[in-house]
Amino acid sequence: PLNLHHIIPLDFSSLRTLPETHAWPQSEDAHHHHHDGSGSCIPIIDLMDPNAMELIGLACENWGAFQLKNHGIPLSLVEEVEEEAKRLFALPADRKLKALRSAAGATGYGRARISSFFPKHMWHEGFTIMGSPCDDAKKIWPNDHTRFCNIIENYQKQMKLLAEKLTQMILTVLKICEDEKGWIGSSELCEAVQLNFYPCCPEPNRAMGLAPHTDTSFLTILHQSQTNGLQIFKEGAGWVSVDPQPNTLVVHTGDILHILSNSRFRCALHRVMVNSARQRYSVAYFYGPPLDYVLSPLLLLTPFPRFRSLSIKDYIGIKAKNLGEALSLITTTQN
Ligand code: SIN
Ligand code: FE2
Repeated sequence: PLNLHHIIPLDFSSLRTLPETHAWPQSEDAHHHHHDGSGSCIPIIDLMDPNAMELIGLACENWGAFQLKNHGIPLSLVEEVEEEAKRLFALPADRKLKALRSAAGATGYGRARISSFFPKHMWHEGFTIMGSPCDDAKKIWPNDHTRFCNIIENYQKQMKLLAEKLTQMILTVLKICEDEKGWIGSSELCEAVQLNFYPCCPEPNRAMGLAPHTDTSFLTILHQSQTNGLQIFKEGAGWVSVDPQPNTLVVHTGDILHILSNSRFRCALHRVMVNSARQRYSVAYFYGPPLDYVLSPLLLLTPFPRFRSLSIKDYIGIKAKNLGEALSLITTTQN
């Protein structure tokens, strides 16, 4: 029989102590750094600001992430998606397991894909959507999936438009030529929506919501519920909290943008801490070129490409075997 503890925390929220399977070695810096020594925190950028493009470029260079306000996504839609995530994760485990993501599968319910790289389990449940949300939603709500599907499909459309707008700005900052922008708006994009749930945890200091990782996307647009937990690693500052701001989305630079920018743009290492008093939800939208797109810093006409050219598909294959080393494995030797 399946050992469900290996899939999800299940009803661990009723426990008073942390199971050893979920107890991570404690790190000293875990909960103290809200801001770096200079008092700065992750930039908040107004998309309506006439200088938004330059500010986004600077944030990607310095942080690999920023918070975005006046982003144009209706607050009501973001709230509806959060409600649907709550409704889904509140279901009994046997209902959620009807849409369990298989070992080879891309979509459905389960623990974080990065889990296999870590000896301990994370305090987290996830639900991954690629393309239509309906097949998996039907497994969970055989007669009542329409609302979930409509809301998610609307969110996918709106997020795609926002991602396209940001991508145009970013590629302009990077001076990537128009010919290379062909994938923007194409139908073969690599897109996914990930719903995340972090239940209340009896011993948050010993648990990990989501272990440190960079996103494989070009960029990720993240909505977080009004509960702290997300942290970004910044050299010289340590782990910096990305506190939720009302009606503001977090944007992360992913590995693909890091490679295309010839490492001018950082890809933010981030993680999620958990909380004993409050549940946390987040909704991540991952956006990038189609899988057969060939990544090459040569698009910048740089004489010193730091990465060898390869397709996104090949990069994902390398990262699936070497979570933390994928970027160094494709680094060229002539640096
Ligand atoms: C993620 O890194 O994909 C999720 C971040 C979060 O839950 O805030
Ligand atoms: Fe992430």
